[in-house]
Amino acid sequence: MAVVEERDREIIPAAGRFIPVAAYDALAAATMREGRWRPWIAGDVAARCGPSPTLTEVGAGTGSLTRTLRARVPEAAITAVEPDPGARAIAAAKAGPGDEAIAWVDARADSLPLADGSQDAAVIALVLHHLTRPQKEAAIVEIRRVLKPGGRLYVADFGRPRDPLMAAAFTTIQLADGFETTRDHRAGRVPHLLAGAGFDAVERPLRLRTPVGTFEVTVATSPV
Ligand SMILES: C[S@@+](CC[C@H](N)C(=O)[O-])C[C@H]1O[C@@H](n2cnc3c(N)ncnc32)[C@H](O)[C@@H]1O
Repeated sequence: MAVVEERDREIIPAAGRFIPVAAYDALAAATMREGRWRPWIAGDVAARCGPSPTLTEVGAGTGSLTRTLRARVPEAAITAVEPDPGARAIAAAKAGPGDEAIAWVDARADSLPLADGSQDAAVIALVLHHLTRPQKEAAIVEIRRVLKPGGRLYVADFGRPRDPLMAAAFTTIQLADGFETTRDHRAGRVPHLLAGAGFDAVERPLRLRTPVGTFEVTVATSPV
């Protein structure tokens, strides 16, 4: 019963509990140093996952990273999973040439409409801090289900603040998105959650200071 209640919870939309999703892209542009990490992830996928990988983005929001991935890996078969119709509408309005090849689906992270072992890579950016601990764990297990053995998981999200300034900055995210869902990030637990779900080679190749806290890209591989 508890699991059902967790799955039936309202989602926390892209710009948090109090700000309309229409403001998300401007907020992200102002605070998230997108030019550093979105191209980094797309470049790593291009370098390591072959020329035409199967790739899913979980919680793809307004499509900013999805479009970066498509541009950098144009032969990828991309499934963009996003439960909020408002975010999907913004993504559709932004779509440019070639973006029609992206398959957008209405689903949640704990129930991906993808076959077992079907994906070369999965990306989940700025989503885990919108999920409670049980939701995070369910999402990570579900992503492992759809990845091929050796498939790569990219988690881009907030990590443990390394100094008082970053700790204070992250409080803005906690106020916007909730303290329950962000607690594991403040404590630096994301890599442990991935390892606990059986992922191998958990590494953090990128860490950034942002105006809203310490941001990390964590990469892990599905066990072979
Ligand atoms: C901060 S936005 C990030 C959007 C995008 N990944 C990016 O990098 O800009 C978080 C997204 O997660 C979505 N989301 C929230 N709960 C979710 C869930 N349970 N499963 C999948 N997506 C979820 C929200 O609708 C929102 O679009």
